[in-house]
Amino acid sequence: MSEQNPPLVALENVSRAYHAGGGLWRPRRTMRAVDQVSLAIPRGEITGIVGESGCGKSTLARLITGLIVPSEGRVLFENEDLAGLSPALMRRLRRRMQMVFQDPYSSIDPRFSIRETILEPFDVQGIPLRENEKSEKVAALLALVGLDPSLGGNYPHHLSGGQKQRVGIARALALEPALIVLDEPTASLDVSIQAQIIALLETLHARLGLTYAFISHDLGLVRYFCTRIVVMYLGSVVEILPAPRARPRHPYTSALMASTFVPDPSRRRDVQPISGEIASPYDRPPGCAFAARCPQASARCRNERPVLLTQNGHAIACHHPIE
Ligand SMILES: Nc1ncnc2c1ncn2[C@@H]1O[C@H](COP(=O)(O)OP(=O)(O)OP(=O)(O)O)[C@@H](O)[C@H]1O
Ligand code: SF4
Ligand SMILES: [Mg+2]
Repeated sequence: MSEQNPPLVALENVSRAYHAGGGLWRPRRTMRAVDQVSLAIPRGEITGIVGESGCGKSTLARLITGLIVPSEGRVLFENEDLAGLSPALMRRLRRRMQMVFQDPYSSIDPRFSIRETILEPFDVQGIPLRENEKSEKVAALLALVGLDPSLGGNYPHHLSGGQKQRVGIARALALEPALIVLDEPTASLDVSIQAQIIALLETLHARLGLTYAFISHDLGLVRYFCTRIVVMYLGSVVEILPAPRARPRHPYTSALMASTFVPDPSRRRDVQPISGEIASPYDRPPGCAFAARCPQASARCRNERPVLLTQNGHAIACHHPIE
């Protein structure tokens, strides 16, 4: 990435530790939900972040948007280290990066009307609006996400799951952010509604020139929707595909691809579930975290942790990448 065009967000060797135990009978144990991640979120792109449950995707999302701070390493937004910002500057910067969460049922307060929900970010930021401005903003944002502007007076329980997620997106767009981190935004929706939300996100991305980080456990969806793909395993980045159709070279990505749901019933028998258990993050193996499940694992894999190496924009952390 050139200095002239730095990424919107850059993570430099970022880790986030959590602790368990520590009482009289249980020794304190530490794990890293995100473990030494270096990653760029380039402007204008849709960066997919994919991996199995518990691999650290949501923790990474919260680190990117400054909702939690790293235990080690730095998160840079437009070359500014988030850790060095005053609370006032951090609050200003929060306007520029927003999150959309998986579950619109719990991320939207049922006591707030749709209008209040959409206007909440202006309150949080202390941006005063006149009554007519409020009405104009709400109507414009609802129209932008394909909802009838007359819905503003309704309460969340009047809306379907898909409509609620559209409200979540409208709220995220309210302050005209540069970056939206979407944490499994369609995972709790029916497949047909999921497709409509993805189509809406595609339109908004093109129309508003947004940058997305799109988190999902669904590699098929990520390959369809994203312009580049980051694959995580047990808190670490194991592969970055520079294009959605790039051939995976890490055995884990390859296995994930083979285990992805195929809509065509005649091809379903090709789907291979990944066998074996994911190691506990409290008990991370010394070498490659995927070694116990990897068909290519060697003695070196079990002892030496592979580092992420980049060639022509394609990054792989593996001692024996697929040729
Ligand atoms: N606040 C916390 N305290 C302790 N452990 C946590 C905390 N948040 C996350 N973890 C642990 O960190 C690991 C990563 O969690 P995270 O929610 O980031 O994974 P994820 O990839 O988003 O999973 P999912 O696909 O299920 O949403 C898990 O082992 C989780 O239990
Ligand atoms: S480093 Fe070894 S165990 Fe890990 S993915 Fe590569 S080949 Fe498999
Ligand atoms: Mg999550």
